[in-house]
Amino acid sequence: MASNAPRKILVTSALPYANGPLHLGHMLEQVQTDIWVRFQKSRGNDCLYVCADDAHGTAIMLAAEKLGITPEQHIDNMHQLHVKDSEGFLIDFANFYTTHSEENRRWSERIYQNLKDNNHIATREITQAFDPEKQLFLADRFIKGSCPRCKAEDQYGDNCENCGATYSPSDLINPVSAISGATPVDKASTHFFFKLPEYESMLKAWLDSGTLQPQVANKLREWTDAGLQEWDISRDAPYFGFEIPGEPGKYFYVWLDAPIGYIASFENYCRRTGHPFDEYWQPGTDTELYHFIGKDIINFHGLFWPAMLDCAGLRTPTAIYAHGFLTVNGTKMSKSRGTFINASTYLEHLDAEYLRYYFAAKLSDSVDDIDLNLEDFVQRVNSDVVGKVVNIASRCAGFLRKGFENRLTATCMEQELVEDFIAAGDSIAVLYEQREFNTAVREVMALADRANQYIDNRKPWVLAKEAGREPEVHEVCSVGINLFRVLMTYLKPVLPAMAEKSESFLNTSLDWTSLDAPLVDHELSAFKPLIQRIDLKNVEAMVESSKTAEPAKTAPAPKAAPALESETIQFDDFAKIDLRIAEITAADHVEGADKLLKLTLDLGDLGSKQVFAGIKAAYQPEDLVGKLTVMVANLAPRKMRFGVSEGMVLAAGPGGEDIYLLEPHAGARPGMPVK
Ligand code: MSP
Ligand code: ZN
Repeated sequence: MASNAPRKILVTSALPYANGPLHLGHMLEQVQTDIWVRFQKSRGNDCLYVCADDAHGTAIMLAAEKLGITPEQHIDNMHQLHVKDSEGFLIDFANFYTTHSEENRRWSERIYQNLKDNNHIATREITQAFDPEKQLFLADRFIKGSCPRCKAEDQYGDNCENCGATYSPSDLINPVSAISGATPVDKASTHFFFKLPEYESMLKAWLDSGTLQPQVANKLREWTDAGLQEWDISRDAPYFGFEIPGEPGKYFYVWLDAPIGYIASFENYCRRTGHPFDEYWQPGTDTELYHFIGKDIINFHGLFWPAMLDCAGLRTPTAIYAHGFLTVNGTKMSKSRGTFINASTYLEHLDAEYLRYYFAAKLSDSVDDIDLNLEDFVQRVNSDVVGKVVNIASRCAGFLRKGFENRLTATCMEQELVEDFIAAGDSIAVLYEQREFNTAVREVMALADRANQYIDNRKPWVLAKEAGREPEVHEVCSVGINLFRVLMTYLKPVLPAMAEKSESFLNTSLDWTSLDAPLVDHELSAFKPLIQRIDLKNVEAMVESSKTAEPAKTAPAPKAAPALESETIQFDDFAKIDLRIAEITAADHVEGADKLLKLTLDLGDLGSKQVFAGIKAAYQPEDLVGKLTVMVANLAPRKMRFGVSEGMVLAAGPGGEDIYLLEPHAGARPGMPVK
């Protein structure tokens, strides 16, 4: 494959809704896609990854209204946050656009016109629940009431969380609008439908074409077997979206223009860069098109989308790659357990590459769910990435610097071993191509074990102490570095930042296309740490801060508290704070910090803790040692730029130079609770 002409590949992942922040479930998808894209590039293919925010719909309109801003402002804000999160996770988008764009409007209108011209649009009056107060039609999830079967109150939409009954929202007892609380009334209006049944034979052939994963094709066959229904593609005003041309007050349903957003984002990229556009969307060309999506949206991508494309005379996807859902510690992500983790919260505490590696080690081509077990995560990343891979480079680099001026041997030694490593690239490439990342990673780690065994057997640290054995030390370490080079080439799609640091260390680029050329008589740069071990404390701190992060997008937003209430706390809140006397046993300057001192605090029986405190202006560190302070001993640890802070010290004063701690007192012992 690598020797042929470069493939021209366009890749997308699902467009995240612009009504909330990205969470680790979104990142699972973007990381999966990104690894695949980076792999293609490493193989020398021309591969572009485009995405966008999905900016339309009632939920976004209501969210903006609640915030007192326009939907445009809201989606702009979200766009910035999403871009930042994806960058933080090293997602290599060619373009991250928005569906609320002129390109998308034009393509949506054009494709709709095609559907209409070909007689695939039906018009019908339907009756729906309507909120008389908000003057707006209510989707099922915006209606709540008591369950008709078990009478449980406050059940949303069409199923009961208490007894599991499913029903129509009109069966709810005492239904109310979840938006205004008003009792919904029935109201009729005209809707536009895409006549999907006319695509039955096209879609059956598509499902049988082998393009889809077997589990996905089977699931979608349930739809075709049950008989396809016409698809309602219009919504009534008020709606945030594109108005249907010639139909005032009628808008395209968000799911009509969302996938068209793939085309629009790519067109925007092509216009900005001069990249050819047409050949990617015309049928019968040699370009390839892949959509990475979650299993919850396969009907849109596997049925409606190919039918729309076909009708518009555009190509259908080369493949749709669906993945399962992310669970954390074995269950659905949950706010109360602190496992509903936003991408930005993760990045405040941990390095993106840890999670990229962990996801890679778990991802396959199936739609099975994927569990992030936080203990396993720490253990796995530390033992594989740090313990196995980085270890090879770090143990060889020292000897090469000290004894050989950072220069590798003039010829390639242990040729067979090195060639074995290079030869493994063919099967690893097949695994990446097929999205069997977990198996690819396992093969790479088996090679890493072999490399470490080779070094262990040759014991350069023993040889280095024996006279006349320098050439052997040189050989072992040069071979070790060459093995590391091959391993990092295989891991580069997963660990791009670590690969970049390795490239500066090795003074070479790590691409599949240059795999065959071992480094001989080659000078290395200084070795710098490639990645730190994960500290479990940072994971715990992330979970703690996720417990207080903003609520999930579907939960009704909490009412704003009146000012007075928010200034007081209840006794129960106060009682949770564990205040203790602590003795400052050490105080140090923190390099690069203007205000902080690093304090070591003795809490008597409770042990000692490290805290960063912003009191540098008031004290010389040496004056603090031996002083007592009051400390919040049960504050969740927080990772700061300079290290983990395990609590907070209390001091009195207006700040700056005027801050006062307690003086030592005979009656105050470290660890004593403060009453
Ligand atoms: N806006 C639609 C997609 C339109 S594509 C033309 C949407 N948005 S979403 O924000 O809800 O989800 C975006 C993607 O993230 C989807 O592929 C979805 O399956 C995926 N995930 C959302 N939560 C997820 C997990 N917990 N786990 C894994 N993927 C998840 O759907
Ligand atoms: Zn019920």
